Amino acid sequence: MKKIDHGKLPQHIAIIMDGNGRWAEKHAFGRITGHRRGANSVKAVVKACREIGIKYLTLYAFSVENWLRPREEVDALMGLLDKYLRSELDEMLRNGIRLVAIGDIGSLSGPLRNMLEEAMEKTAHNEGMVLNLALSYGGRDEIVAAVKGILKDCQIGKITPQALTKELFSTYLYTADIPDPDLLIRTSGEYRLSNFLLWQSAYTEFYFSDVLWPDFRRRHLIEAIIEFQRRERRFGLTSNQLRRDGTYTG
Ligand code: FPP
Repeated sequence: MKKIDHGKLPQHIAIIMDGNGRWAEKHAFGRITGHRRGANSVKAVVKACREIGIKYLTLYAFSVENWLRPREEVDALMGLLDKYLRSELDEMLRNGIRLVAIGDIGSLSGPLRNMLEEAMEKTAHNEGMVLNLALSYGGRDEIVAAVKGILKDCQIGKITPQALTKELFSTYLYTADIPDPDLLIRTSGEYRLSNFLLWQSAYTEFYFSDVLWPDFRRRHLIEAIIEFQRRERRFGLTSNQLRRDGTYTG
């Protein structure tokens, strides 16, 4: 059996958890049951990432576009998030997992926001792994919010337009404190980015799995990591340049 090379782990894995609805249809359940089973995959993958030694895991749990789904489905997803935060907080504390979130967190309901903030506060000192939940997240909205922040800081004289670089721009994104993803996984056989981490995935390796998210488990994650480790990340350079300049570790 193929094994993970622990010296070449992706530092940051991002996942588009897709296929809950199709899983439910396939098994003649309602969509909400699909999401509930999807939450079990979340638990399994968080645990596996922590055990493998992944430092950052970002999960696309709810997009800005998802607000347009039927009311009952939105309510069920919010309920599952709430339940997840309540049931997993102790586990996060035990396993050194720090919870953070990206997205328009202000658009979540007061009680869910409070629960999220409490979990983030309680886990803030943990150093084992960062679990980053993308909630009410949209990549284009994130970029527009960053531009607005930059314009405001230019207006008040905190920065000048001339000082703007890609590095400074990145500090205005929701992900200011998080490195770009090395590996992005999308499940369910769809090949789209769906407004996820648009700026941050400029040099990310993409891995598409046919497995529907509720069926996704540790072994599928390991397959994705092994495939990532087979790839040569060149960041626009040539293979020869990378070999000469021994600093490349990706
Ligand atoms: C996409 O499947 C999935 C979502 C829109 C929500 C993801 C949510 C969870 C996995 C559960 C709750 C999350 C946490 C963090 C506890 P889809 O509904 O678009 O599937 P389909 O394309 O097959 O219809």
